[in-house]
Amino acid sequence: MILRDTYTAMATKWTPDSWRRLPARQLPDYPDPAALAAATDQLCSFPPLVFAGEARRLKAQLANVADGKAFLLQGGDCAESFAEFHPDNIRDTFRVLLQMSVVLTFAAACPVVKVGRMAGQFAKPRSSAMENQNGVELPSYRGDIVNGIEFTEEARTPDPARLMRGYTQAASTLNLLRAFAQGGYANLHQAHQWTLDFVDQSPAGERYRELSDRISEAISFMEACGIGLDSAPELTGTAFYTSHEALLLPYEQAMTRVDSTSGGWYDTSAHLLWIGDRTRNPKEAHVEFIRGIGNPVAVKVGPTTTEDGLLRLIDILNPQNEAGRLTLICRFGSDQVEKLLPPIIRWVEREGHTVVWSCDPMHGNTVKSSNGFKTRPFERVLAEVKSFFKVHRAEGTYAGGVHVEMTGQNVTECTGGAVAITEEKLAHRYHTHCDPRLNASQSLELAFLIAEGIKEERQALPASVRAAS
Ligand code: PEP
Ligand code: CO
Repeated sequence: MILRDTYTAMATKWTPDSWRRLPARQLPDYPDPAALAAATDQLCSFPPLVFAGEARRLKAQLANVADGKAFLLQGGDCAESFAEFHPDNIRDTFRVLLQMSVVLTFAAACPVVKVGRMAGQFAKPRSSAMENQNGVELPSYRGDIVNGIEFTEEARTPDPARLMRGYTQAASTLNLLRAFAQGGYANLHQAHQWTLDFVDQSPAGERYRELSDRISEAISFMEACGIGLDSAPELTGTAFYTSHEALLLPYEQAMTRVDSTSGGWYDTSAHLLWIGDRTRNPKEAHVEFIRGIGNPVAVKVGPTTTEDGLLRLIDILNPQNEAGRLTLICRFGSDQVEKLLPPIIRWVEREGHTVVWSCDPMHGNTVKSSNGFKTRPFERVLAEVKSFFKVHRAEGTYAGGVHVEMTGQNVTECTGGAVAITEEKLAHRYHTHCDPRLNASQSLELAFLIAEGIKEERQALPASVRAAS
């Protein structure tokens, strides 16, 4: 391993607040620091949302992904909002993720690690701190956990009371997700029922129906052989994990606790935390914060990634080279992947680092439609995933996962797909608080494409790895 010069963050002791010594980007300016301190003090006394043991279990499953034996599916809203908080919305996103995972598991014969961008994905990085509308300048919207989206001074002023509301919404979302995952809803017997009405009519919905028929046949066959579903907890429930961007550091710090079993620090706001493309500087606060938590972590890797910057980051975040600890979420844009990804894979491979390679086909493919909507052409999303698989096949590495912004709602935010959403239709149901999301049919269509990619890549794997999974 190449020895890199040490620098402050790595050379000093980590504590949950050691990030405060370093420059931090993307944090709101709270006008009342005493109110912020009171809110975070209160959060420190609130129960953890997840347990360290669960985070370790996810890390072990991600180690299987790093090893080519499973696939990571991570998805959900770009930004959860207080306004869209409703049990039906949680259920619908959860069931589309379940459907996608069934497609991947069955069609590609590969276990799927399911991680929601849910139950805490509130804070957003912004390209500029201020927004100007008709000569009026106000702080940018940074997600409902920070301020309100309405363009008024009152709404846009960062309000610490929103931290409490974010915590409460995350807690009840997680409670419902746990019930869905283990309380019978995720039983494979239900695979038919997970289809949403509007998806049923789409070509991907049709393909899904055929697939769930085959699953029902397989289950009936097993039952006829005397192997009941009840004897296989994997079939009657599912492991479902949560994740969000560790952006709002005062909140993350307040949720970080010592695990009594291992004595290590864990951020109990979610199972997996990632840092974004704008906050991954190895000398800055966000990297300092996540280096010290025991959770599995991820980093967005975009077009500005440099060899030195990335290798430093990996040394800092995964000094023991522990499989499953670090996921690299690549997001280049469909026309850049084939050029930018191969050298990055080679740097990481050359240094012998074990990582999970995941593809975010959303954030490099955002465009403005001719009628002024921020959108993502579905063809570009598909093209980025295809190129991601192709590059990994050429490099002999394992394309281990995808990271998507999606919803179970019938929104019209990304153009294209088999049920073609035209630019004119974007206005019909454009509900996102931040970036455009795939709707349920588009998500399912993407899952079928990924299943093809995994199937091909697994056929190229040595038989010993295939047999082990
Ligand atoms: C996001 O995931 O919503 C995001 C802002 O991504 P990135 O950091 O890759 O731009
Ligand atoms: Co986004």
